[in-house]
Amino acid sequence: MKEALAQIIFHSIKKSYDKEILSAEAIAELLEVPPNRDMGDYAFPCFRLSKELKAAPPMISQWLSESIVSDIATAKPLGGYLNFFLEREKFARRVLDSLQAEGERYGSSDIGKGKTICLDYSSINIAKRFSVGHLSTTMIGNSLRRIYDFLGYKTIAINHLGDWGTQFGKLIYAYKTWGTPEELEKDGVEALTKLYVKFHDEAEKDPSLDEEGRKWFKAIEEGDAEALRLFNLFKELTLRDSEVVFDMLGVKFDSYAGESFYNDKMDRVIEELKAKGLLENSDGASVVNLDAYGMPPCLILKKDGATLYATRDIAAALYRHDTYAFDKCLYVVAYQQDLHFKQVFQVIELMGYDFAKDLKHVSFGMISFEGQMLSTRKGRMIFLEDLLKRACEKALDIINEKNPDLENKEEIAKQVGIGAVIYTDLQNSRIKDIDFRWDRALNFDGETGPYVQYTHTRCCSVLRKAADIPYTEPDYAALSDDASQQLLRLISRFPEQMLLAADKYEPSILTRSMTEIAKAFNKYYYDQRILTENPAETSARLLLTKATKDVLKTAMYLIGMDAPERM
Ligand code: ARG
Repeated sequence: MKEALAQIIFHSIKKSYDKEILSAEAIAELLEVPPNRDMGDYAFPCFRLSKELKAAPPMISQWLSESIVSDIATAKPLGGYLNFFLEREKFARRVLDSLQAEGERYGSSDIGKGKTICLDYSSINIAKRFSVGHLSTTMIGNSLRRIYDFLGYKTIAINHLGDWGTQFGKLIYAYKTWGTPEELEKDGVEALTKLYVKFHDEAEKDPSLDEEGRKWFKAIEEGDAEALRLFNLFKELTLRDSEVVFDMLGVKFDSYAGESFYNDKMDRVIEELKAKGLLENSDGASVVNLDAYGMPPCLILKKDGATLYATRDIAAALYRHDTYAFDKCLYVVAYQQDLHFKQVFQVIELMGYDFAKDLKHVSFGMISFEGQMLSTRKGRMIFLEDLLKRACEKALDIINEKNPDLENKEEIAKQVGIGAVIYTDLQNSRIKDIDFRWDRALNFDGETGPYVQYTHTRCCSVLRKAADIPYTEPDYAALSDDASQQLLRLISRFPEQMLLAADKYEPSILTRSMTEIAKAFNKYYYDQRILTENPAETSARLLLTKATKDVLKTAMYLIGMDAPERM
């Protein structure tokens, strides 16, 4: 819609002033949605034309309003703005025409064609259970990936596993001293966590254990067969455990190249940093000084020559650029690592890599539960698998109460329970902290996942009832009322919202957009009878219902939620 209006304005300026002051794209970007409906559906601010045309903005909007020719909208000047009022019937036809043509692909595009985006998300740690602390990175990353795919980009989803560090040496020692294969087989990662805690308790009494841990870590580094076998076993157990969670969430990756993957790619980084004169000695350690950028130095090598988290991230960025020739590489990681990424990106820039500007840290806030912060130390850890299962159970309780005869209800309860968790996670701007509350997340009313899913099933149910009605040419005038128009307007803006979400790395824009569409549909549903005696009217209202269903389904998919047809 925006594009269509922009074209009209573009031609009107060209005709009136005989020049192209702004491109149609620039005009589309300037178009605003006025704060209240009395001011129209779109407003074009004339300020940018003022200098070139040597006239005050209100004059320009007056002139333009006289020259606009359009059958989709009328233009009225108001101050420095030109306000557009869409012609209701034609507007309805236009929106529903594109929905009919595109269906569930509505909003998709090929603006990303030929471009590649790497997304580093979830990035779980070996020998730790998948906790709720990794929910946001997983779901924001998954959603961004789906959005970019939908916009025609090639995406590479990378789970940058935390699979390197001295803790794995300690774990080997602990396992060899206190562990058994049976225990590992039975309890998996849980058993590893216990062994790790035991190691720390014992090491407090006997500090020589730390030395044992270091020895085993060195053995891993040197490729000792026994050490590698155990290390790989721990890794396998963790991945098996996390696979359950990824399956429940519908999340997939193209690569699990984690920190250890870069072992043989460290030398290049060190050599290059040296050759470029960037490496400095600091108490025996090697660092890149970042004083000039107001940051503490970036640690590259420890005294003992061991590489660090940052060194591995530098190697990873170079490798990804070589391998995927990305146009952008996104790191979906909590804001605690803001400084880390700033340092890493700065070092890469200092190394002379122009692509440093294409590295983006997509940062996000913390999650708490019923007002309580999570903490490993205080034993307040919630495992994601437990949380998701509980969400499914609670959803099943609600279904048993509201719709006990529902077919396939276990399956639907899963979609609802998990959808509720995902929605809560992606509801607000990512930088905001989240407080998860069961009664809020699973409420079928208000701004929740189940509410949007329920609205979708409502559309499905209307369409099922109408399945036998023969097709009649729709009468779009039946959609001229306020409720229908509001719904159409929101649907027409969905593609813009998608671009905005991609541009700002902000899935919450889609969450909000689909919630508004769901609310508007419910208002429409109460205001208007959809199945009436008038076939042309019914036909138009059914088209709008189908359009709503398609957009909601697409939006839910892009957020990462399932869209059941009954619940
Ligand atoms: N494993 C890390 C963590 O859980 C996140 C890794 C993020 N990705 C990266 N390339 N540093 O905190």
